Amino acid sequence: MTDLFSKFDPLIQQREDLLATGVTDPYNLVMEKVVSPTVAICNGRETILLGTYNYMGMTFDEDVIAAGKDALDKFGSGTTGSRVLNGTYQGHKECEEALKEFYAMDHAMVFSTGYQANLGIISTIAGKGDYVILDIDSHASIYDGCAMGNAEIVAFRHNDVEALEKRLKRLPPEAGKLVVLEGVYSMLGDVAPLKEMIRVSKENGAMILVDEAHSMGFIGEHGRGVAEAQGVLDDVDFIIGTFSKSVGTVGGFCVSNHPKFEILRLVCRPYVFTASLPPSVVATAATSIRKLMHGSNKRAHLWENSKMLHRGLKDLGFTLGTEEPQSAIIAVIMPDLEKGAMMWEALLEEGLYVNLARPPATPAGMTLLRCSLCAEHSSEQVGEILGRFERAGKRVGIIG
Ligand SMILES: Cc1ncc(COP(=O)(O)O)c(C=O)c1O
Repeated sequence: MTDLFSKFDPLIQQREDLLATGVTDPYNLVMEKVVSPTVAICNGRETILLGTYNYMGMTFDEDVIAAGKDALDKFGSGTTGSRVLNGTYQGHKECEEALKEFYAMDHAMVFSTGYQANLGIISTIAGKGDYVILDIDSHASIYDGCAMGNAEIVAFRHNDVEALEKRLKRLPPEAGKLVVLEGVYSMLGDVAPLKEMIRVSKENGAMILVDEAHSMGFIGEHGRGVAEAQGVLDDVDFIIGTFSKSVGTVGGFCVSNHPKFEILRLVCRPYVFTASLPPSVVATAATSIRKLMHGSNKRAHLWENSKMLHRGLKDLGFTLGTEEPQSAIIAVIMPDLEKGAMMWEALLEEGLYVNLARPPATPAGMTLLRCSLCAEHSSEQVGEILGRFERAGKRVGIIG
C-alpha cells in the first residue's frame, strides 16, 4: 500500500527541523481570553493583537453583540439547511439588503464564507472553455474556484498592467473571459492599480471580478474598497467580500449589477450544497455592515495608525513590503523562516502578536511578519508596538 501521506514528508521534516531549534510553534497559539479587538491573553500574558483581520474593530461593538444575542434567542442556534431550502431566514435577506445598500448595487448573495463566495462565483460563471485571467499572487480561494470550474487559468505578473494586457490580447476574441483581481493583496498589503487594469480588461472584452476582502470597510470614502477609492466601482461586474475581516464575524458575499445575477442562487454549488449561516451570525453581520456605512472617523483613525506604524518600523531599520503605507496591512520582511520564527517568538514574549507568513502563502518564497492594524488601536498602543518591535528586533539581530 502506498501511504497517501508520504507526499507531506518534506513539510513534516521542515516543521520538525524548525521546532528542533527550540522555537515555539508559531501555528499553534491559543488565545486564552480575548479582552477587546486589540488585546488578548496568550500564554497567560496580556498581548496586543497586531495580526487579526479585525480592521474596523467590530467584534466587540455593543450593537453588533446585542443583535447577535437577540437573533440567537429568537431564531435559535442554526438554520440546519441550505439557502435554497429551509436555510433562508429573514436575517439572511436583511444581510443581503444591507450589502446592496452598502455598495449601492442591485444584487447581493450571502455565502457561508468568503472562500466559498470565490469558489462558487468563479467556478459557476467561468467553466470549461472560458478563461480566468488572474494575478499570480491571488488568494487560494480564487485558484480553487478556477480549478473547480475547469476554466483555463492565465496568470500574469503581480500588479503588472502591461502583462495583463499582453495575456488578454493573446486570447481568442470570442472566448468568455473573467479577469480576477484583488483590491488589497494580503501578504504585502499593497493595492492593485485597478483603474488601469479594468480599462485594459474592458478594452479586451473581459468581465471583471474584484475581491475586496482586505479593503471593505476601510478603503474608499464609504469603505466600499479600492474600486471605490479609484473611482471604478461601476465598471466592476462582481465584487467579492467576506464578513471575516472588517465586518467582524464569518461569512462571504458577492454583489453585482448584472441583470441575470439571481440565477446563480440555483446553479452555484457552494451556495446550494451547504448549510446557511446561523441567524446570530447574519444578524451581527447586517448590524456591522450598516454601522460601517458611517465609519468615516474610524477609517481616518485607521489610516493614522497605518502611517504611524509604517514610518516607525521604517525608521527602526526594518525592511517593509511597501515603500508607503497602502492599507491596514504592513509586512515586515524577514531574512528566512528561522529568523522569522525567532522574531515572531521574541515579539510574543514582549506581548505582541503578529502573523508569521511563509511560502506557499507568500510571494517569491518570502518569510514575513504580517502586521494588521485595527481602528481600535490607540496611538499609545501603536507607540508601544514600535517599542516592542525595537527590543525584539535587536535581541534577534534583525536590526542593529
Ligand atoms: C483575498 C481573500 N479572499 C477571500 C478570503 C476568504 O475569506 P473567508 O475567511 O471569509 O473564507 C480571504 C481570507 O483570508 C482573502 O484573504
